Amino acid sequence: MTFTRATLSVLLALAVCTPLCAQTTQPKPGTAAVEVQAQKAATEAQNGSLAPLASKSSLVSSHAPFEAGDCKICHQSADPKQPGPLTKQTPALCLDCHEEFDSVLKRSHTHPPARAACTTCHNPHNANFRKLLLQEPRVLCTTCHDKVGKASSSATVPHKALTTGAQCTNCHNPHGSDVEKLLLQLPFDLCVSCHKVDTMVDAKGKKLQNIKTWLDNNPDWHGPVAAKDCVGCHVPHGSDHFRLLKEDYPQEFYAPYDARTYALCFSCHQEQAFSTAQTNTLTSFRNGTKNLHFVHLQQPGRGRTCRACHEVHASKQEHHIRDGVPYGSGGWTLKLNYKKTETGGSCEKTCHQERSYANRDAPK
Ligand code: HEC
Ligand code: HEC
Ligand code: HEC
Ligand code: HEC
Ligand code: HEC
Ligand code: HEC
Ligand code: HEC
Ligand code: HEC
Ligand code: HEC
Repeated sequence: MTFTRATLSVLLALAVCTPLCAQTTQPKPGTAAVEVQAQKAATEAQNGSLAPLASKSSLVSSHAPFEAGDCKICHQSADPKQPGPLTKQTPALCLDCHEEFDSVLKRSHTHPPARAACTTCHNPHNANFRKLLLQEPRVLCTTCHDKVGKASSSATVPHKALTTGAQCTNCHNPHGSDVEKLLLQLPFDLCVSCHKVDTMVDAKGKKLQNIKTWLDNNPDWHGPVAAKDCVGCHVPHGSDHFRLLKEDYPQEFYAPYDARTYALCFSCHQEQAFSTAQTNTLTSFRNGTKNLHFVHLQQPGRGRTCRACHEVHASKQEHHIRDGVPYGSGGWTLKLNYKKTETGGSCEKTCHQERSYANRDAPK
């Protein structure tokens, strides 16, 4: 990184360049570029000018070359009262020192405003926010991404990942990435990089499972988890469903049966398998033709939800059957004592005395 990047030839070439000529030299013109220009104008109008901020008291960050006091590093004149036009436009100006951005902007997914002008988000001199930002990330990002902004601010189940630390940039690279949607890592790795502690609680103070430890200790991963698709079931930006789910899923242990409240499960599993009282094809959880899914889910007054018997992320037992169910807040677990048998299965000393079911021939 060097502070004396301006060469004479560059200065000469750009001497007659007005800010407008930047647009003709920007890469990838087209509708996106036009859109970015319009959005840039809107962001700037909202954030004010890019001049150095006068009030020192609220400053959070200051740019090393600006601190050096030599305006000529970027402007055509060294006179701080009238530094004049730039020697070149951003991003080229910035890339002279921030050489690593040359490769960032060549990644397979790049952010249009970063290709267009670094000053869409950064004040080149100093700022009231960290990293020379014109605004804190979520305000900055949602000036253009208003859909994400609206969805996340109106969500009844918000996700703290958007409001702590680097906010949107906890998960997204604002410049460019080799992962789709400008993500820092694949979604699964992102989620697990935070959900690996025992101390996390939800908005009501209820302890949240350490997902990483759980997955490490339970080898039978549910299909979409095995496909590493956390966002197959969860919305990262906030949701109107319990636990940031994409669709409805009852939040209680007991709930009266209504197919709509299981929309999440039934987006992949067949609903009839649970609402048909007698069957010899739709489910293997049946005693002869008596559908035991139906029996448990539809029990009047005390319909069990799926969590009474299944783990949703991963389990030790087959069919994602749980070992036990946490009971009360004291940390006691009611064991299910599920046993798979040759012809079906059984549960004992759980919600009831031992009961078994059979629906297939024992292997010969
Ligand atoms: C790291 C490069 C850099 C340095 C060093 C720098 N500037 Fe700037 N300055 C810029 C950029 C980029 C802009 C935005 C110009 C644009 O996009 O129109 C700008 C804009 C300005 C503006 C506002 C112009 C406008 O039309 O809004 C003022 C005033 C200014 N600079 C003053 C200074 C002074 C004074 C110094 C030296 C103490 C200085 N700058 C040092 C990069 C720099
Ligand atoms: C003359 C060299 C030079 C130029 C030109 C330059 N920078 Fe920097 N920039 C630096 C240095 C040096 C640092 C401090 C690096 C560090 O701390 O690792 C820095 C740091 C930054 C930071 C991090 C600030 C922080 O608080 O951590 C941002 C953001 C940044 N520059 C953006 C820009 C943008 C945008 C442009 C173009 C308008 C630009 N830079 C042009 C030299 C330059
Ligand atoms: C869409 C907004 C946006 C644009 C456009 C943008 N940046 Fe940034 N930049 C950010 C945000 C947000 C951060 C802080 C990320 C974080 O906290 O991890 C950042 C951080 C940085 C940093 C500090 C990196 C570090 O690790 O500390 C540098 C340097 C930087 N940007 C340079 C640039 C340059 C050069 C350009 C133009 C090629 C540019 N930015 C365009 C939003 C933007
Ligand atoms: C000046 C407007 C503007 C700002 C500010 C802005 N973006 Fe973007 N962003 C765009 C445009 C334009 C696109 C490409 C069109 C699209 O996919 O929406 C884009 C694309 C994206 C994408 C990829 C979307 C996809 O479907 O592939 C993500 C993720 C993203 N931006 C996140 C951010 C984050 C995080 C910030 C704040 C650090 C931010 N943006 C700030 C204009 C902006
Ligand atoms: C917890 C990680 C995380 C945080 C924090 C986060 N995002 Fe995302 N974002 C994602 C993931 C994962 C996707 C891809 C979702 C998918 O493919 O279904 C995504 C997708 C996007 C997209 C593409 C369009 C869409 O909705 O799928 C945009 C734009 C976007 N995010 C903007 C933002 C903005 C703006 C913020 C801050 C207000 C933000 N994100 C915060 C993880 C995050
Ligand atoms: C930057 C850290 C971070 C990342 C990355 C992250 N989370 Fe979170 N998540 C949190 C924190 C902190 C909480 C607890 C506070 C809250 O949001 O209620 C949480 C809560 C949750 C909750 C429970 C919300 C509730 O109130 O019921 C779910 C579900 C969740 N995250 C899923 C995900 C998924 C899926 C991903 C990946 C797309 C992800 N998280 C990525 C930090 C993160
Ligand atoms: C098949 C859909 C599905 C997939 C895929 C999925 N989840 Fe979940 N997740 C759920 C459901 C349903 C709940 C609510 C479980 C309950 O309360 O019984 C939940 C709850 C959570 C919780 C809150 C746990 C608690 O203690 O209450 C977190 C955190 C979470 N999921 C993160 C993740 C992460 C990280 C991934 C990817 C590794 C992921 N989920 C993949 C459906 C899914
Ligand atoms: C009372 C305990 C219990 C409840 C409640 C329960 N299941 Fe099951 N489920 C089982 C058992 C036991 C099996 C294994 C049957 C076998 O193959 O022997 C099973 C099997 C399954 C299967 C494999 C296909 C099949 O039907 O044989 C799926 C899918 C399934 N359950 C989904 C669900 C969903 C979704 C819910 C909630 C709507 C739910 N289960 C509620 C105990 C239960
Ligand atoms: C995104 C699609 C998807 C969603 C949503 C989904 N599942 Fe699954 N589920 C699968 C796939 C694929 C399999 C087969 C692979 C496996 O055994 O995990 C499966 C298998 C199962 C099995 C084990 C079947 C067996 O006999 O081994 C159970 C139990 C189950 N899911 C329960 C649920 C519950 C409960 C929900 C709702 C909370 C749900 N699933 C939501 C895709 C999904």
